[in-house]
Amino acid sequence: MNILLVGSGGREHALAWKIAQSPLLTRLVIAPGNPGMEKLGELHPVKADDVEGLVALAREIGADLVVVGPELALAAGLADRLAEVGIPCFGPSAKAARLETSKAFAKAFLERHDIPTAGYGVYETAREAREALSAFKPPYVIKADGLAAGKGVAISPDVKDAEAEIERMLGGRFGQAGARVVIEEFMEGEEGSLFALSDGRRAVLLGGAQDHKRAFDGDVGPNTGGMGAYSPAPVFTPDLVKRADAEIVQPTIRAMASEGSPYRGVLYAGLMATESGPKVVEFNARFGDPECQVLMMRLADDIVPVLLACARGDVSTVAAPSFKPQTVICVVMAAKGYPDSPLEGSIIRGAEQDFGPHVQVFHAGTKRRSDGQLAAAGGRVLNVCALGDDIAQARERAYAAIRQIDWPAGFCRSDIGWRALDREG
Ligand code: AMP
Ligand code: GLY
Repeated sequence: MNILLVGSGGREHALAWKIAQSPLLTRLVIAPGNPGMEKLGELHPVKADDVEGLVALAREIGADLVVVGPELALAAGLADRLAEVGIPCFGPSAKAARLETSKAFAKAFLERHDIPTAGYGVYETAREAREALSAFKPPYVIKADGLAAGKGVAISPDVKDAEAEIERMLGGRFGQAGARVVIEEFMEGEEGSLFALSDGRRAVLLGGAQDHKRAFDGDVGPNTGGMGAYSPAPVFTPDLVKRADAEIVQPTIRAMASEGSPYRGVLYAGLMATESGPKVVEFNARFGDPECQVLMMRLADDIVPVLLACARGDVSTVAAPSFKPQTVICVVMAAKGYPDSPLEGSIIRGAEQDFGPHVQVFHAGTKRRSDGQLAAAGGRVLNVCALGDDIAQARERAYAAIRQIDWPAGFCRSDIGWRALDREG
């Protein structure tokens, strides 16, 4: 099989690493990819939002399957265009991807279908939104409607702060994404991410993970795309997973089909385990990053058959993927200054050595200099992932690998997995 993988982050490096192990694979082409993927496939410099360029590349290489990493490509209609030219695509249509790309759409959808989530309102003017605050209790959850690179959510402790956030979001800070704001009821509980692979009619669960969104130890500091993750996550008890599947995942897939936008691809359900059961915090139309990295390392089976079955529309033809019983942890190494102003271009040494059978270092934001050295090219730069018999061993292995990487201009959190470790301890 010829496979085109779209994207260039740590998520896509992990997907490439897993896909490259498939006996079904003939040729793996990655657009645009990153230096970590050089040995796994052929890199083509077509950007992830260049829909026509990607369709042309898929045709040129005779792709049997296109696997889409980032949401931007989906929002730009890549899956729709590939459907027109008859190439199976793992990733939803732009219409189905609205579960991620429009929070207002997702909330209305959940309400229409009685799928558990926080109560909410959608407002187009600051005056409407300010007036609506009295119907909510603090802390106030304020969200920009559209894609805002993970930065469009504020949790405000009081009315004054909430009003300032409303002004900021509607005041052009997020462009079109901030044309409307959503205000939500605050949900108490522990959060986790559950992943399911869908063919448009039904879904198979891929398991859960937990990530750390804040930049610094102790879950403080600014929100980021994710500073680390681990799987399995103890918050996902068998009972919670069963309820989330029956009350959230399957109803969502069925309802999307019944509304004429069947959802094909990975459904990432950000869930809150509340006292009354699992509730949706948000949906994403793609794998989580860095959650994907830990899932790929835990996956025992070949991933290609299930991706292809979803893309072709019949997941019932393959067995649900099985996982290693061990724990995988991922520690993100970011460039100093991340998330606000990450330092660019610093040299990284020792990241490409062989760390042994339990450790993988995925590249998230690196570039290869003309002298062959690796340099930072982004906020989140490396994903150091390790497998262990329990969270403590996985964590020890990940931090031991990090100590061997010589990158003074980088930093990482030293407490990834603390919640799970607390429970185990
Ligand atoms: P989102 O981008 O919608 O996932 O929101 C970012 C983060 O804000 C989530 O991961 C939660 O930690 C938090 N959050 C969002 N909505 C709520 C809510 N209704 N109640 C509590 N926390 C929330
Ligand atoms: N790690 C969170 C995300 O991928 O959105």
